[in-house]
Amino acid sequence: MVTLVVEPPGRVASRVAGIVETYVASAPLPRLGLATGGTMLDVYETLIQHWREGRVDFSRSTAFLLDEYVGLDRQHAQSYRNVIRYTFTSHVDFRLGSVIGPDGIATDPVAEAHRYEQKLRAAPVGLQLLGIGRNGHIAFNEPGSHHDTKTRVVSLSPDTRRANSRFFHSLADVPTQAITQGISTILKAHHIVLVARGEGKARALEAALLGDVSRTVPGSALQGHSNVTVVADAAAARYLS
Ligand code: GLP
Repeated sequence: MVTLVVEPPGRVASRVAGIVETYVASAPLPRLGLATGGTMLDVYETLIQHWREGRVDFSRSTAFLLDEYVGLDRQHAQSYRNVIRYTFTSHVDFRLGSVIGPDGIATDPVAEAHRYEQKLRAAPVGLQLLGIGRNGHIAFNEPGSHHDTKTRVVSLSPDTRRANSRFFHSLADVPTQAITQGISTILKAHHIVLVARGEGKARALEAALLGDVSRTVPGSALQGHSNVTVVADAAAARYLS
């Protein structure tokens, strides 16, 4: 595991964008794993800016989403499919159909989760961008999730719903379930880039990287992966040394 503590915090995005760009330029058919969440917003803004400057090209890339809320209709601005589209992929040159995620309004979400898992198993992600929840969750694998979990339907914890309510009109509007890649699915990615910013993530990062590997902290499963790069600002990394 490589940990990069980047200061000032504004440089975290360009550092992560640089890793993505190196990967996309070198892989014959790049397979990018994309995460939603506030942490990634300026990473995507930086990638869009660099694409406009001709520094990166996504036309050969396929993108895979980590997770999706269950039950938000196709037009809903907060469905992760739309969030990724609005904040990143529609602004650059991904080909039509090359941004793939679980369908949160599938009539059978359990079967949909299985279908998505099969797709990812058949050809794993090359570079996975990953955030971490304040409670140590990765994607929507909440505390208590087994590290051998596959893509599945999960219930969101009250803490995660509260944290994500900032993107909705009210807490009641936040879905109670999601389809998420499992922890073992995420760990199939060849290279994982974990991004964390701000003091609010400091304890979660400490527990994930330095604590016991346990179900209590889903992010601690990353300790078992051989190719993880952590990019954090000093506030998020404050308990790491
Ligand atoms: C969400 C997402 C995660 C994300 C996390 C942190 O619930 N499902 O993939 O990593 O929360 O989000 P943020 O970057 O906004 O702190």
